[in-house]
Amino acid sequence: MSEKKKLFIKTYGCQMNVYDSERMGETLGAEGYVTTEKVEEADMILLNTCHIREKAAEKIYSELGRFRPLKDAKPDLKIGVAGCVAQAEGAEIIARQPMVDLVVGPQSYHRLPELEKKARAGEKALDTDFPEEDKFDHLKARPKAKRGPTAFLTVQEGCDKFCAFCVVPYTRGAEVSRPASRVMGEAHDLVERGVREITLLGQNVNAYNGHEAGLAGLIRDLAAIDGLERIRFTTSHPNDMDDALIAAHGEVEKLMPYLHLPVQSGSDRILKAMNRKHTAEQYIRLIERIRDARPDLLLSGDFIVGFPGETDQDFEDTLGLIETVGYGQAYSFKYSSRPGTPAAEKPEVAEDLKDSRLQRLQALLRDQQRAAQDAMVGRKVKVLLEKSGRLEGQMVGKSEYLHAVHMQAEGLSRGDIAEVRVVSSNSNSLTGEICAD
Ligand code: 5AD
Ligand code: SF4
Repeated sequence: MSEKKKLFIKTYGCQMNVYDSERMGETLGAEGYVTTEKVEEADMILLNTCHIREKAAEKIYSELGRFRPLKDAKPDLKIGVAGCVAQAEGAEIIARQPMVDLVVGPQSYHRLPELEKKARAGEKALDTDFPEEDKFDHLKARPKAKRGPTAFLTVQEGCDKFCAFCVVPYTRGAEVSRPASRVMGEAHDLVERGVREITLLGQNVNAYNGHEAGLAGLIRDLAAIDGLERIRFTTSHPNDMDDALIAAHGEVEKLMPYLHLPVQSGSDRILKAMNRKHTAEQYIRLIERIRDARPDLLLSGDFIVGFPGETDQDFEDTLGLIETVGYGQAYSFKYSSRPGTPAAEKPEVAEDLKDSRLQRLQALLRDQQRAAQDAMVGRKVKVLLEKSGRLEGQMVGKSEYLHAVHMQAEGLSRGDIAEVRVVSSNSNSLTGEICAD
């Protein structure tokens, strides 16, 4: 039997890229590749890229430059660029970095086997189409091997919202939902392989319409799968949080009490300029309704500081919204101009102002995050055990609220759900003890 070729994949950006990398690895797995963690032994290197913020493409070009000695040592080594930078830059990547053999966009990676053959034959292989066919229908069936207890499952791709700062509608295209029957099939297979928690993914996942009852309908169907214990979803837009989804948070026990619901800004002026199509007040009311349904919900968000035209008062309004809402987790960014987006036409806020605003915002969010984590001490949580800890007999897993929890877990294994009393809160995780009762 010929020796398997080795594939090294490096993933940048969001969880959807993590899922895509897994599927790309499996697709090339059917072509005789095994994945490796060691770039030096690779026969193919794939960079699965993200284009959400500035300098993404530049970072990819410098990363590619670092592969030069590997390619010199092994001329057969094939180098590919996938993901959103591939989509945005296309043939330009090969023009600027001729060492690249293959460029494939996020909607066409089911064609990787043909592209790989073309690259192996010494040709340049490029595919950044938005094909008619659905890539998920054309990807090979997923392997049956056992796997870890948590998995991502992409159910929706693309975005029709056109926030003024965002490249996603251009790189990932229009909103498309996978049919519920396909999602259910994939979920059943994952559960058979040992998965106990599924995170449903979509750029705008709560706009999912592949089920007649929307995302809430899909979640209720998934909750009926024996052996699947936990369901999460990300990322959502406030305007797509419908009544059914809010109700599901109160009624579906397997739906975890954690919600990532980005607002980006707390200023109505800026929200309007961002084309978010809701006000700060509407967002706050929405959060109240979700918390009425699920009072212990831990809320996460995304924020952008220094959007074009953001004044001191606009920024204070964002801090005010954060104080009002209270976040257990958050991601925050300096506005970064993306060519081709409407906001890129506007004059930018000075860089030092963006820096100082980001620092203040992050200090506030850090305090809130810390307080939410500290508030867990003394509480009982359920922890899905994911891996061994550093100490003998120790394991690490995630609580319902996505906090990492360490504990002595003799007799328990990966995939078990342990009832744990939290005894202390550390910088980035909790420590707990298994409950005897
Ligand atoms: N500049 C800064 N942050 C951005 N995001 C998206 N586009 C930009 C941009 N141009 C952030 C938003 C989004 C998250 C995924 O990335 O906060 O929710
Ligand atoms: Fe980008 Fe807005 Fe769509 Fe999110 S909702 S992907 S921020 S355009």
